[in-house]
Amino acid sequence: MPASPLALPDLAGRTILVTGANAGIGYWCAEILAAHGARVLLGCRSAERAEVAVSSIRAHASGADLHIVPMDLGSLASIAAAGASLDERIDAVICNAGVKAADRDARTADGLDLMIGTNVVGHFALLAQLEHLLADDARVVAVGSLAHRFAEIDPATLSAPWSGPSLRQYGRSKAALMAFAFELARRWRGTARSALCAHPGYAVDPLTPRRPGLADVSSVARALAAPSRLVVQGKDAGAAPIVHAAVAADATGGDYWGPGGLLEFRGAPARVAASAQVRSVDVGTELWSVLEHLSGTRLAT
Ligand SMILES: NC(=O)c1ccc[n+]([C@@H]2O[C@H](COP(=O)([O-])OP(=O)(O)OC[C@H]3O[C@@H](n4cnc5c(N)ncnc54)[C@H](OP(=O)(O)O)[C@@H]3O)[C@@H](O)[C@H]2O)c1
Repeated sequence: MPASPLALPDLAGRTILVTGANAGIGYWCAEILAAHGARVLLGCRSAERAEVAVSSIRAHASGADLHIVPMDLGSLASIAAAGASLDERIDAVICNAGVKAADRDARTADGLDLMIGTNVVGHFALLAQLEHLLADDARVVAVGSLAHRFAEIDPATLSAPWSGPSLRQYGRSKAALMAFAFELARRWRGTARSALCAHPGYAVDPLTPRRPGLADVSSVARALAAPSRLVVQGKDAGAAPIVHAAVAADATGGDYWGPGGLLEFRGAPARVAASAQVRSVDVGTELWSVLEHLSGTRLAT
């Protein structure tokens, strides 16, 4: 029985890597995709949390074809090791792993700002490591955020120390990830490969179906949160636009998918608008060079 009511194609024979698949929206992407027949590679930094996710997916998607790929998106060495450990065709990559940090001094293993280093540079490096494994018609989905609209990105100062609210810096990291994906979409024009962005709206754990061991939320907290369902949604529903971007026939390169309801907080997958800045050719071109420099990797594209 599929874990979601989404009308998705049969995904048997397709292999999809989901980063940050052990929790939240990434978990739900993995469960939904596995339930529809995909082989799912779970990119996770904690073996223990990944095993909990695998057990949970197997309990809800019988016959699920799952493989854990150890990876810490905040470590270029770990990403290189993850790439080297893989030797199979990959049909889609969902760049979901994300961190929201309040601490300005928080750094990745390579000394980069934690949010920029993990959310953007880590995914650029991962795709560079996996490029030779991508199918001729592969899709890459960058998980963006409504927060991208309130953030300015200047590629030249991407890795500079930041001030102001941490939410703005988080928005910068998401905007940069989206600008990278839209640049990748432009570079892949004329090929069968596609790069897209998607966002989950406003997705919270108390409205998410129970999955023991994953984000356990008390019954009281669930009851208190229930009325908010009118405005926001669970992480299972938040996964829907992302899964749609990864596998639906009507999703194409350069698209941006999100919930189609009020303020894009909740609702069924729909095409939504991205800011002019993340779609800017100038920003995308400059950002690409900066990401090559910060990651020490190159995409041949
Ligand atoms: N929830 C929302 O309303 C919302 C809205 C807009 C965008 N988003 C985006 O959606 C994505 C998922 O959000 P979420 O709400 O599901 O968050 P979450 O519940 O906190 O899950 C984040 C996932 O990312 C993983 N992760 C973090 N840092 C990592 C690293 N260095 N290496 C590998 N994995 C790492 C986490 O693994 P660990 O368990 O090891 O920490 C976890 O699996 C994020 O990119 C977020 O920016 C969420």
